[in-house]
Formats: sequence, C-alpha cells, structure tokens
Amino acid sequence: MLSVQDLHKSYQVGKTTYEVLKGVSLAVNEGEFVAVMGPSGSGKTTLLNCISCYIPADSGSITLRGEELARLDEDALAQVRNRKLGFVFQDFLLLDGLTVRENILLPRIIAGQAGRDMENEADSLCDVFGITAIKNKYPAEISGGEKQRTAVARALINHPLLILADEPTGNLDSKSSRAVIDSFAQARQALGATIFMVTHDSFAASFCDRVVILRDGVVWRVLARADKARGAFQDELLDAIREMSAE
Ligand SMILES: Nc1ncnc2c1ncn2[C@@H]1O[C@H](COP(=O)(O)OP(=O)(O)O)[C@@H](O)[C@H]1O
Ligand SMILES: [Mg+2]
Repeated sequence: MLSVQDLHKSYQVGKTTYEVLKGVSLAVNEGEFVAVMGPSGSGKTTLLNCISCYIPADSGSITLRGEELARLDEDALAQVRNRKLGFVFQDFLLLDGLTVRENILLPRIIAGQAGRDMENEADSLCDVFGITAIKNKYPAEISGGEKQRTAVARALINHPLLILADEPTGNLDSKSSRAVIDSFAQARQALGATIFMVTHDSFAASFCDRVVILRDGVVWRVLARADKARGAFQDELLDAIREMSAE
C-alpha cells in the first residue's frame, strides 16, 4: 500500500550539501505494522517527513495505494495529509484547552464534519483504547500513556490509510510505552490500520511484523518477525544493531 523507491534527500547548510537519504527503498503492505530503526541522525525522521508530504524529496518516488505523491499539487497533498494519513508524534500535540474526547474529534471538527455520528465514533475509539473513563478530562489531568492513546485515537478518527508515528514511545516509561504499542496493535486488529513507526526502542519494534534498519541513508537490513516470540525477535533486533555498530 506504501511503496518508497530509491528516495534521495539532501539538506543544504550554507555551501555544504548533506545527503541524508541515499536511495531508500521499502514497501509496507496493507494492514502491516512496520518499524524503522537506525542510529540517531540516520534519516528516520527525514524519511517519515517525506512520506508525510511535509518535505519534498530530491528524487525517487513515494506511492500510496498506487498514487504517486510527487505528482500531486499542494491542494491534493493537503487532502492526502488530512484524509489518508494519521499522525502520532513523540510529544503528543494534544490541545490543552480541549478534553480527551474533543481532542479525538479535532480532525473532524477541522474538516467541518463534527456531528452525532462522529461523536459516537469518538466514543467507540475511547472504548477501543480504554480511555472512556477519562474522556472528559483535560490533557493536564491524564498520564503520558493516556495522552498517547488519545493521540492514537485522534490519528484514527479520519480512517486513514496509513498511520505515521515518529518515536511515539520516546518520552514514555515502559508501562506507558506498552500501552501505546498495545493501542497500535489494537488499531490494526480492530480497525485494519496500517502502521509505519519510527523508533529507536527495540522493545517497541519487537511488536512489529517487520523492522527496517537504516544506516548511512540506505536500508541496511529488513527483519521479519514471522512467528517468532516477541522476546526472541527483540533479541534478534538487538543482535542486528550490535552487528551494525561493529561493522
Ligand atoms: N532541516 C534540516 N536542515 C539541515 N539538516 C537537517 C535538517 N533536518 C535534519 N537534518 C540532518 O539530517 C540528518 C538526519 O536527521 P533525521 O532525519 O532527523 O535523523 P533521525 O530521525 O534518524 O535521527 C541529521 O544529521 C540532521 O542533523
Ligand atoms: Mg528523528
């Protein structure tokens, strides 16, 4: 459903050009939960921002359900962002003045589509993610894990084709991280969501179907969980990362 082909991206800093993505190719299947790992500075966020249509790539292609993003104009890109993609960020980006339920509804309110149906949908997302008891609370009154589950519910209210998450567990303790990962797994099982998550956390990545490891701007290795136990897959990821840093 998502295909990235030979993606290149450089940043210009003064007179120097830094090539960050040097021909990244990968694919994500419908309903798959995929993680991208790699050392700090390896281009994970840059890759995600290209897929999110926040920054243009220099060359290569990104296609979402067969539609090539680079061919779209500004309006069409905004539509892809609003309707086809859902975002979850490290720092949640919830609005302090809105309740949990209102935060979840926000994308629909922005789209001018709030109404009874949407409110019912927000309530059922609260059920799916176990935040019904706190739905009328404000972000300052809930835990980090609850905030992030709220952010995942918000990302889902528009029924996106693809959820993009950048270090969604980066600021959380292990219990809250687990709650977030469970909410992604739940989103996939209950709602058929496809999830593409950047993380440096091998624990979070070990819940995924496949893990793409980036190094020096290219895909270094792709590991599949297949039917391995989660713990065994995490050990495999840790071994791969050790091997990569030893090379
Ligand atoms: N807007 C920018 N301008 C210049 N350099 C940038 C910019 N964004 C990121 N970089 C550089 O590109 C490299 C990759 O960054 P990033 O994609 O954020 O990596 P990661 O998310 O894997 O840590 C880093 O060296 C970073 O300093
Ligand atoms: Mg990053």
